Amino acid sequence: MTALLAIENLGVRLDGPEPIDLVHAVDVALAPGERLGIIGESGSGKSLTALAVLGLLGHPLAARGSVRVDTGGDVVEVIGTPSRRLDRVRGTTMGAVFQEPLASLDPLMRVGKQLAWPFAHHKGLRGEALRGAVLDALADVQLAEPERIARSYIHEISGGQRQRVAIALALAAGPRLLIADEPTTALDVTVQAGILELLQREVTDRGMTLVFISHDLPVVSGIADRVLVMRDGRQVELGTTAQILGAPTHPYTAQLVAASRRLDDFLPRAAAGGAA
Ligand SMILES: Nc1ncnc2c1ncn2[C@@H]1O[C@H](COP(=O)(O)OP(=O)(O)OP(=O)(O)O)[C@@H](O)[C@H]1O
Ligand SMILES: [Mg+2]
Repeated sequence: MTALLAIENLGVRLDGPEPIDLVHAVDVALAPGERLGIIGESGSGKSLTALAVLGLLGHPLAARGSVRVDTGGDVVEVIGTPSRRLDRVRGTTMGAVFQEPLASLDPLMRVGKQLAWPFAHHKGLRGEALRGAVLDALADVQLAEPERIARSYIHEISGGQRQRVAIALALAAGPRLLIADEPTTALDVTVQAGILELLQREVTDRGMTLVFISHDLPVVSGIADRVLVMRDGRQVELGTTAQILGAPTHPYTAQLVAASRRLDDFLPRAAAGGAA
């Protein structure tokens, strides 16, 4: 079977008088519908890997190796293709959600108008059909008052609502692959669980392939079929979630697992305190 996403020997280099390799030799292929978690400490290269896959790196950062995405008709090589030529692939095949919803949302445009763009541009919807698609998309991400949200600017809605709008925007053109880079890190703990639940439901209902990035192993292991562990820009381990949690082979992975276990011991009391 053709991989939906095939990353081969992916590297990211920072150009300059003395070029620095920030990401080295990431190698992983995802089958359609597969969910990959990427985990690693801050600065380990997770976001650069995500941006390279999306074809969003620009000078002085450059990606090398190969990233092939199956668009349903063609397999597109992302590396070396000019960013503008990837606009359509990004819209229709790859959706992205980032830590900060403002990364994908325009503060100067009403929510409804922003969300209308992909439906008009990629699906050719107009008039009432377009308006209906926008309201349905807002309702689908469980925003209670789609009409009001559509009329709002993003400073008029909460952080959790913004991330729901960003998710609706990422899903609008029906992508086969969703890349979520720490989508809940910036949110209040009480809001995080709802967003994770929403992402999981959308991925399942739409049969999407998922790359889910987090520094939080318990969160990743609740979502992913396989986990890729990064450290210092290198892929140190790749395995099924059960293997990573139960029998990590790299000492760094073992450390992450042990740390999350210690956190588990601590959390029930902390959560009880926080909920009071
Ligand atoms: N635009 C840039 N210019 C120079 N160095 C960069 C740039 N972006 C990232 N880096 C460096 O590359 C390394 C990897 O960064 P990256 O953002 O991928 O880490 P990360 O794993 O996503 O971390 P975090 O968990 O904090 O989000 C870091 O050392 C970072 O300082
Ligand atoms: Mg990051």
